[in-house]
Amino acid sequence: MNITLIGYGKMGKEIDRLASERGITIIERLDLGSPIKDSEIQRTDVAIQFASPESVLPHVQRWAAAGKNIVVGTTGWQNDLDKVKAIVAETKIGLVYASNFSIGVHIFFRLIKEAATLINKFAEYDVSIHEAHHKDKLDSPSGTALTAAKILLGHIERKKTVLSGPPQGKIKLDQLQITSTRAGAIVGTHTITFDSLADSIELKHSAKNRAGFALGALLAAEWVKNKHGLFTFEDVLADTIQ
Ligand SMILES: NC(=O)c1ccc[n+]([C@@H]2O[C@H](COP(=O)([O-])OP(=O)(O)OC[C@H]3O[C@@H](n4cnc5c(N)ncnc54)[C@H](OP(=O)(O)O)[C@@H]3O)[C@@H](O)[C@H]2O)c1
Repeated sequence: MNITLIGYGKMGKEIDRLASERGITIIERLDLGSPIKDSEIQRTDVAIQFASPESVLPHVQRWAAAGKNIVVGTTGWQNDLDKVKAIVAETKIGLVYASNFSIGVHIFFRLIKEAATLINKFAEYDVSIHEAHHKDKLDSPSGTALTAAKILLGHIERKKTVLSGPPQGKIKLDQLQITSTRAGAIVGTHTITFDSLADSIELKHSAKNRAGFALGALLAAEWVKNKHGLFTFEDVLADTIQ
């Protein structure tokens, strides 16, 4: 399988390293400003995009116009999701996107869903999310924290909205606060806290390196190679995690 990497930063380089270990061919590595040649697009089976949020829509337009399938790992482009959906439907390409391609994080999401279903029955527990990432991360809160928030809002009836900026006065009962830390080289840590007067329960996922994300993106590329439609990493893992 021939893969083109769109974005050759921390994630692009990690995918490159893992791909060579797995015998997958990376035919092109594109950074901001790299010319994209039509001949290379034609030779590509699947493009994997880990670049900047504003570059997602133009890249999807370009690669979809050539009928090429794409894995989008970039985060912070949720405002363009409807446009991307329309392009995928029109061009009939296959596209997998996820705020987090780590298998461990998807197990974490399942645990959050289970915990939220239980906590829904016990009004004495409040819930909050904290995420921490390296100082160069562009988007805040993280896409993974927003996915966790969506799961919590979907299963805890008393929580209705996300508060991601600083609180103005008291946190309202229906607000779910997400706080963010940007520091040093933290790869990515997400903590869900269920807190009551009596005790506190924490679910925490800490990424130790970028290998988990890179492996998931390569799995997604192999999975979507001959598929059409818009998918998330949940679809890729559906056979593995029931
Ligand atoms: N879904 C997941 O599992 C997951 C995991 C980790 C990270 N991410 C996300 O993936 C993205 C990249 O993360 P990273 O840590 O690799 O960032 P990074 O180290 O800053 O690398 C980003 C790379 O994208 C390039 N780029 C920027 N705009 C581009 C464009 N228009 N066309 C082509 N390349 C472009 C940059 O090139 P220049 O250096 O030339 O500017 C840089 O090489 C972020 O959105 C991050 O949140 C997702």
